[in-house]
Amino acid sequence: MPQLEIRDLEVYYKVPFGTIKTLFGIQLDVEKGDSIGIVGESGSGKSTLGLSIVRLLPPNAIARGHIFFNGTDLLALPASKMKDYRGTGIFMIMQDPFNSLNPVKKVREQLIEALRIKYLRRNERVPEESLYDEVLKKLKDVKLPDPETIMDRYPHQLSGGQIQRIVIAMGLLLEPSILIADEPTSALDVSVQAQIIALIKELQDKYKMSLLFITHDLSVAYAVSEKLLILYGGRILEFGNTEDVMNSPAHPYTEGLLKSFPRGNYRDGKLYTLQGAPPLFTDLPNGCVFNPRCPYAFDRCYQEEPGLYDYMGRKVRCFLRHE
Ligand SMILES: Nc1ncnc2c1ncn2[C@@H]1O[C@H](COP(=O)(O)OP(=O)(O)OP(=O)(O)O)[C@@H](O)[C@H]1O
Ligand SMILES: [Mg+2]
Repeated sequence: MPQLEIRDLEVYYKVPFGTIKTLFGIQLDVEKGDSIGIVGESGSGKSTLGLSIVRLLPPNAIARGHIFFNGTDLLALPASKMKDYRGTGIFMIMQDPFNSLNPVKKVREQLIEALRIKYLRRNERVPEESLYDEVLKKLKDVKLPDPETIMDRYPHQLSGGQIQRIVIAMGLLLEPSILIADEPTSALDVSVQAQIIALIKELQDKYKMSLLFITHDLSVAYAVSEKLLILYGGRILEFGNTEDVMNSPAHPYTEGLLKSFPRGNYRDGKLYTLQGAPPLFTDLPNGCVFNPRCPYAFDRCYQEEPGLYDYMGRKVRCFLRHE
């Protein structure tokens, strides 16, 4: 049984002028130890997908469908039960990590508390001093400068980069079964990014943790993931082995993304740019969501929405790949 099974997930946001649907029929299996890169342009629904799994969507959101975590449907749980799964079960490093910390508690208290919960759930007794040492070590691992001083501060006394590192450290300290990292290094210096990514990967290998790594950067996704999920307009357009998808993209959108990827092909010495803009959820095209930008679109693509077809060991939402 996969560790996480997402079935027919749809997410809607209530806005003053109505309701907008932002995730459409998401199906995804996450096996234990999987590392999945979730890639898509801004607004494609990446954070919405991650937040649905930990049930931390904003109050104006409605999620439908099923998200089974070791067989339990998280979407069917009462909100009060969800805390048994968050943290050591599934932890999300949020894109805006400031919200992950409690504003009225010092960093030290929050991190030690998280660790205490981990050991409590494992029925292990650990002396307070070693909790402190473990926290300090992890803060050094994530290259937080002067961790002893910073631990005695409140979140509002810290910079965005410091907070991001603290939240990453918290995720790593908890050793969750599934770690969802939403652009975890975007507020950090490039030199630190690679170290943090290496640290997450190391931990993943050590604890056989599953990793869902959200990024708009294909090179980061390539470095961290064994499977790649391409999200566009709230739909999965392609899902498969990272190496395969990068070597021979099956969806025209993936092909365009890879061509516009700096390490990829140059045309006439210039970087290829994917024409057009991502769709507006309030004004989606008929048929395939990618048709306005697709160089291969034909009649059917404007009339019908393609399904997510099995194609050469992958899933691809394109009529061209419907064998
Ligand atoms: N709280 C909200 N209320 C209304 N609409 C929202 C809300 N949060 C997100 N949306 C909409 O849902 C869609 C998906 O947003 P989401 O944040 O999941 O995208 P994303 O892929 O994470 O983008 P980014 O790369 O910019 O972080 C967007 O169109 C966005 O405007
Ligand atoms: Mg996001």
